[in-house]
Amino acid sequence: MRTQVGIVGAGPAGLMLSLLLAERGIDSVIVEARSRTAIEQTIRAGVLEQGTVELLKQCGVGDRAMTEGARHDGIELRFRGEGHRIDFAGLVGRSVWLYPQHEVLTDLIAARLAAGADIRFECSDVELREVTSDRPVIAFTEADGTRVELECDVIAGCDGSAGISRKSIPASVRTDHFRAYPFGWFGILAEAPQSAPELIYAHSEHGFALISTRTPTVQRMYFQCDPEEDAEAWSDDRIWEELQKRVAGNGFRLIEGRIFQRSVLPMRSYVCEPMQYGRLFLAGDAAHTVPPTGAKGLNLAVADVLVLARALESFYSTGSTERLENYGATASRRVWRAQHFSWWMTSMLHLDPHGSPFDLRRQLGELESVTSSVAGSTYLAEAYTGWPLSL
Ligand code: FAD
Ligand code: DHB
Repeated sequence: MRTQVGIVGAGPAGLMLSLLLAERGIDSVIVEARSRTAIEQTIRAGVLEQGTVELLKQCGVGDRAMTEGARHDGIELRFRGEGHRIDFAGLVGRSVWLYPQHEVLTDLIAARLAAGADIRFECSDVELREVTSDRPVIAFTEADGTRVELECDVIAGCDGSAGISRKSIPASVRTDHFRAYPFGWFGILAEAPQSAPELIYAHSEHGFALISTRTPTVQRMYFQCDPEEDAEAWSDDRIWEELQKRVAGNGFRLIEGRIFQRSVLPMRSYVCEPMQYGRLFLAGDAAHTVPPTGAKGLNLAVADVLVLARALESFYSTGSTERLENYGATASRRVWRAQHFSWWMTSMLHLDPHGSPFDLRRQLGELESVTSSVAGSTYLAEAYTGWPLSL
């Protein structure tokens, strides 16, 4: 089998890349380990930057995000029991959209299949070969047991943080920039009405909490926990008690309801350098991970593949590899800005289990500075709603 661009992984990076390439008349095949149902049901991100939404709309896959998602013009930073609004629309004239990642994936898969795209779900034993040649190969076993060798011009490694693509860059060439945080996020989905009109990022002496939403009747919430915490060991009452004390103040209370999904997520920052090796290009979580506090992961995956699609367009129209060779340098400028923003939001809002009373007071000083200064709030608004996609 042959294609122009072989894509490993049908997450936001892989699916969006195949769509952007199709728009440019470039063929691709996606090789994916999971089933379509599993992909469409995994609960992950919730926040889309304005640029991501605009790109989805331009590509004809933004309709449901517009009708079923919700525009948010600000967030609340809550500390010392008081809420402080960061007014995105007023400060930078931009907004974000609450529209879950699995719905974005559902829309992308439907659009790609309707356009006749070749997506192979439930593949196993995926291997990358000869990535430094100009005919790299993705070998894989299909769901029915057939072994396939897919010869490509270029391979896009879009297989997330646990994928195989990154490992095709030899350790002697690769630098893994890595930081683990001494806390995780306990995430829940609950049947309840919204407790507040906008997302709440809460700092408290008991630790961080994030109050987000999915639909008028389903709410998404997170609280900082030990990364080794066993989510199943917690009763609903204990979870609500923990959340309530972290957002308490000014008489505010969360509206409680039945908790029907729970999990603990680790928090890490990671960047793989280089993002390119021979004809292999990494994009999205395969190349980098951010802690979720800044809501950047999915958006960064989309930004990477836009840079890659433009570089591939130039390659196929001119025959020059110049833009492809610059892919890593171009994409990583945004990656490191997002790394900094995600680390900053995380360190400003979470309680360091090894920290001192000094650290807690320093965080409060920082939160006062951000919320009381137009310059401070504007930086947060600019970064959260997303830098222009041309960057
Ligand atoms: P993935 O979504 O991980 O997709 C990779 C795909 O590759 C998967 O489908 C996988 O099955 C497949 N794959 C893996 N290995 C192989 C293999 N060997 N062969 C073939 N296929 C393979 N980001 C935000 O922007 N905003 C948020 O609000 C936000 N909140 C989050 C909340 C949570 C709870 C979590 C977990 C993450 C959150 N993120 C958020 C991060 C976001 O979900 C990820 O950054 C995003 O999914 C990255 O997309 P991707 O396509 O690079 O990788
Ligand atoms: C959600 C996740 C995030 O990481 C974040 O910063 C904001 C919202 C969410 O799942 O809704």
